[in-house]
Amino acid sequence: MSAVVTTKRVTVPEIRARKSKAPVVCLTCYHAHTARLLDAHVDLMLVGDSLGNVMHGLESTIPVTLDMMITAAKAVMRGSQHALVVVDMPFGSYEESPQIAFRNAVTVMKETGCQAVKMEGGTRIAETVHYLSERGIPVMGHIGLTPQMFNVLGGFKTQGRTEAEWPAIEADARAIDTAGAFAVVLEGMAEPLAAKITTEIAIPTIGIGASAQCDGQILVMEDMLGLNPNPPKFVRQYATLGPQIEHAVKAYAEDVRARRFPGAENIYAMKQKTA
Ligand code: KIV
Repeated sequence: MSAVVTTKRVTVPEIRARKSKAPVVCLTCYHAHTARLLDAHVDLMLVGDSLGNVMHGLESTIPVTLDMMITAAKAVMRGSQHALVVVDMPFGSYEESPQIAFRNAVTVMKETGCQAVKMEGGTRIAETVHYLSERGIPVMGHIGLTPQMFNVLGGFKTQGRTEAEWPAIEADARAIDTAGAFAVVLEGMAEPLAAKITTEIAIPTIGIGASAQCDGQILVMEDMLGLNPNPPKFVRQYATLGPQIEHAVKAYAEDVRARRFPGAENIYAMKQKTA
C-alpha cells in the first residue's frame, strides 16, 4: 500500500487550456488561513511579491527576498489543496542569467512544493522563460506595469495609453508566449491594448487593471476585501474587512478594560452547563 498522500490540484496545462474559455479566477495569497478560505473558489493563487507592501509595509517590492517568498509560499501550500500555486520570483533573483534564475526557481519549487513561478518582463527575460520552461519549471509572465521597475519608472502608471506605446508591449507579450510561458499577467494596461494582446497570443492573459477583455483576472486579496485603505481605483471591493476588524478590536479592548474575559475554568463551567 502506498503511504503517499496525493492531492488533486489544478494543473498548469489546465490553466493553459483555458484560453478564450471560462475566465481564470486568480487571487494573491500569503498565508495559510486565507489559502484555506480561497482554495475552493479560485483556480490559481499567486504568492505575489506584493507581500512586501501588504505584509511588510514596504514602499516597493524591491527589498523582497527569496526567503520572504519561500516562507509565505510554504504557508499557502499548507493551507490549500486545490488551487494551482504560483510563486513570484523577487527582484534580483532571475534577471542576471537564465542559469541563476533556474537555480533560484528550483530552490523555490523544492522548498515550497509550488507548481510554477512568475517573473516580470517581456523580451528582456524571454530567454530565461524559455530556459526554465524547457527544464521543467512552468513560468507565468508579467508585462505592462511591472512594479519591480519602480525606480526606473519613477512610480506606477497605466501602460499603453497611447498607440505609440503599443508595439513594444505587444512584442513583450509575443516574446513571453513564444518562450513557453503558460499564462501572462497584464498589469495596469489600457483596455484596447489588453484586448488586442489577448487575441494575438496563444496563452491566457490574466488582467489586473487591464479590463474584462482578458482571459481571467487577478487581484491582491487584501484590496478586494477592503483591508487596504488606499486600493487601486480599478479594484471592486467585495467586503469591508478593515472597518470590521477595527470594530471588533474596539469591542475587544472595551471587554478587556472592563475585565470581561473568562479564564479557562469559566469556559469549562460554561460548557458543562450547556452540555
Ligand atoms: O505581486 C503581485 O501581487 C502581483 C500581482 C499584482 C499580479 O504580481
